[in-house]
Amino acid sequence: MDALDALLNRKSVPRLMEPGPDEQQLEILFKAALRAPDHAALRPWQFIVFEGESRAELGDIFADALAAREPGTSEAALEKAKGKALRAPVVIAVIAKVSEHPKVPAIEQKLSAGAAAQNILIAAHAMGLAGIWRTGAACFDPYVRKKLGAVNEDEIVAFLYIGTSNGTPPLPELEISDYVSRWEHFSGPEN
Ligand SMILES: Cc1cc2nc3c(=O)[nH]c(=O)nc-3n(C[C@H](O)[C@H](O)[C@H](O)COP(=O)(O)O)c2cc1C
Repeated sequence: MDALDALLNRKSVPRLMEPGPDEQQLEILFKAALRAPDHAALRPWQFIVFEGESRAELGDIFADALAAREPGTSEAALEKAKGKALRAPVVIAVIAKVSEHPKVPAIEQKLSAGAAAQNILIAAHAMGLAGIWRTGAACFDPYVRKKLGAVNEDEIVAFLYIGTSNGTPPLPELEISDYVSRWEHFSGPEN
């Protein structure tokens, strides 16, 4: 697929079917991720792949975290949390591994991890796959963070759900002029 086609037509797909990315496609997804802009070449990224049975373990982590966060959560809600990791053939946790750097604040390292996540979504789309970026309370949960190896300033920036789309969702129609202005015509709100 043409690069602009991929950029202009990617659409998130919430319900994803088999097949997921095969080994070769996974490698391409991560090669794309590792091309994310990266100030001072800190490589502030870690990716964890959950596929097949290991998705159930991620589901257990989600459910255990919810139970600890909200004691008294119903069995039905815990089962629902468990099932979340099964919404796609492959789930990729994207973690910003943040380190101290005199010129690269934490926000830049987290943005770099976000760019890596977006590269994965675009590359998946370009290969005929589909995906969606999800976060939710699990991303910020201390138990989930611990289980996934996020420490100190690290951030779980995404759970990327990747698989095959079961249809082509419509693209939203957005007006560029609602979001873009040239400085000489700038008419933003006054402070
Ligand atoms: C940082 C981030 C976190 C998100 N978390 C969720 C989420 O937890 N659940 C969800 O349904 N969508 C989430 N979204 C939105 C979807 O990924 C997606 O962007 C949205 O459904 C719009 O679809 P589009 O990407 O095709 O425009 C998140 C997006 C971003 C950038």
